[in-house]
Amino acid sequence: MHSTLLRALGALVCCLFLATSVSAQTDSASAARERIAELRAAIARHDELYFKHAAPEITDAEYDALKRELRVLIEQHPQLATADSEAGAGVVGDDRSGRFPTVRHRVPMLGLEKSYTEAELRKFLARVERLAGEPVTWVIEPKYDGLAISLTYVRGQLVRAVTRGNGSEGDDVTANLLACTDVPRELPDTPDFPRPDFIEVRGEVFMALAEFERVNAMRRAAGEEVFAHPRNLAVGTLKATDPAVLRSRRLTLVCYGWGGCEPADTAPVSQRDLLTRLSAAGFLVPPAHVASGAETVWQIVRVLDRERSEFAGPLDGAVIKVDEVALRRRLGEGDAAPRWAIAHKFEPERVETRLRAITWQVGRTGALTPVAELDPVTLGGSTIARASLHNRREIERRDYRIGDRVRVERAGEIIPQLVGVNLAARPAEAVPVTFPTACPVCATALQPEGEAGWRCPQRACPAQVKRRLEYFASEAALNIRGLGPVLVETLVERGKLSEVDGIYRLTGAEVPARVLDQIERSKGAELWRFVAGLGLPDVGGVTARKIADRAGKLEALGRMSREDLVAAGLSPAVAEAVARELASVPLQRILAGFSAAGVQPALAAKAASDGRLAGQAFVFTGTLRGLSREEAARRVLAAGGKVQADVARTTNYVVAGEGGGRKRDEAKRLGVAVLSEEEFLRMLEGK
Ligand code: IVH
Repeated sequence: MHSTLLRALGALVCCLFLATSVSAQTDSASAARERIAELRAAIARHDELYFKHAAPEITDAEYDALKRELRVLIEQHPQLATADSEAGAGVVGDDRSGRFPTVRHRVPMLGLEKSYTEAELRKFLARVERLAGEPVTWVIEPKYDGLAISLTYVRGQLVRAVTRGNGSEGDDVTANLLACTDVPRELPDTPDFPRPDFIEVRGEVFMALAEFERVNAMRRAAGEEVFAHPRNLAVGTLKATDPAVLRSRRLTLVCYGWGGCEPADTAPVSQRDLLTRLSAAGFLVPPAHVASGAETVWQIVRVLDRERSEFAGPLDGAVIKVDEVALRRRLGEGDAAPRWAIAHKFEPERVETRLRAITWQVGRTGALTPVAELDPVTLGGSTIARASLHNRREIERRDYRIGDRVRVERAGEIIPQLVGVNLAARPAEAVPVTFPTACPVCATALQPEGEAGWRCPQRACPAQVKRRLEYFASEAALNIRGLGPVLVETLVERGKLSEVDGIYRLTGAEVPARVLDQIERSKGAELWRFVAGLGLPDVGGVTARKIADRAGKLEALGRMSREDLVAAGLSPAVAEAVARELASVPLQRILAGFSAAGVQPALAAKAASDGRLAGQAFVFTGTLRGLSREEAARRVLAAGGKVQADVARTTNYVVAGEGGGRKRDEAKRLGVAVLSEEEFLRMLEGK
């Protein structure tokens, strides 16, 4: 589709969303036909953005509102329905990216019917109870918000992992999945659980919230755009083609279903049976609640909703399933979804408040990002006074004005975001946003950058200087403990520090001795850390490694040409910009400053474990066979990780030795990955 048209459609969808309640009442068939066509086009476009590009432009709630409106219209005008079951739920969209081989699922991966209100859910439960003609045992699980995956095991060996794709065939992402998650490669065969010759184990791959925050914090510090939602980051990671990206991020796999299974008598007989087997085979499974009767089911769903922020992964609802497979068979399947299960979507955590102002933050590379300053409100248990806005275009598209009543939502429960404006409540005195033409910090005239951005071109801008120094000292680069934002701020304000090489000229008069020790130690860090810390355009940790591998030593860095950088694997455009920057006077000065201060980076020791587990939090439970707990903890710390006493939402891994009980259960409940001792050791070795 033409891009102007796309943009116009985007604006249209936005207006239409605000007008949903009016247009849902459309009664004439021709108006309905027109509206249905609009909705289909908009949904198709948002599907494409969501599934193929992992870059949605509207929130899930807005998307669901479009789908609901379409469903209501189709129900009123059934003659306008198309074959693909818009009236129900079902699979829409297609996550295939064209970059992986496509593989057909033995049994298609269906979607689920959805409910949004208590009444809709009760209607579903009543319908199934009526069809069953007997009391039904229900299993209620959290609905993880990631991407669906199918793992094929042949004679107990994992042979491939395929995304849902269009439901019939998906992307074969086996190598990627293995690189960034813990997938059992083998199924055990025990008398209790005879192993099928062939089985498709189904589940969801998602990014734990702690990991999402870690990755985004690194990106933010690097001046890179952050991901708005853990799901987008999960998709981007699983479909990444750069192995370094895969190694640097962790995804979690939780399994809750199966597709093909042969011979048939080895298939699970109930959901509970399946979960027990999967868990015994080493899969992470969702915590399941068993209930009978609509009232109990509803109460459990409400509890899950209330407790959703305690889960390690992003949840967007609950899935309610008939437990027994025999009854599932009797109920059968609709066009695109089974009749025995439903996904009840939680209301997004959303509040309305007043937009006080929009301020502009200047990043490490000078990029300007708008921040909404709000009247403080509570959202999902914490008070917020600021929310993020993507960029200038977003402000124009939504027409935010200062003084407006705005809607704030938590994306993936983490970063509050501005998602719309209540036009009906717009006060007369609301003021349109004025966009800065000069840097709010150093007053230098801004330059346009990229499609939607502006940047301050002044390298000496105090905001850029501080961000650059903070980043240089952060764990993403030199990892100089103690040299945090507060100390950096003081040193810059006092004129003691203006460029990163100046760090190596600091004395005991300016910083505490323990920080000096850390600075001294950092002189021998790996070369890529220095490259990352330079603040080169579009260079995060991954690209920095490529550049460092190619340069080999510090002295060679300043002489790298565009061609060298292309040979290192950078795109021509990035290579061009980086080469120009490296040759610039300020950069040459910094590099000379490093050498003069005795900086001697270590060779890019591939096996060095330093930083391998940077930011990852571990909890140990049970008895480890090969090493003591103290030794295990020491190794985690040496690799840059953290050790916690108890399982929390911020825990990344629980390492379970023999006899670990409560903490393992707690990990399951919170959806935290559980590692065996062997898996832990492999991770330490970076295998
Ligand atoms: S059961 C026949 N259980 O939600 C479909 N799905 O909207 C069986 N999902 O396609 C799916 N958590 O990608 C099931 N505990 C859970 C789930 C879950 C997340 C996803 C899955 C599914 C989609 C349906």
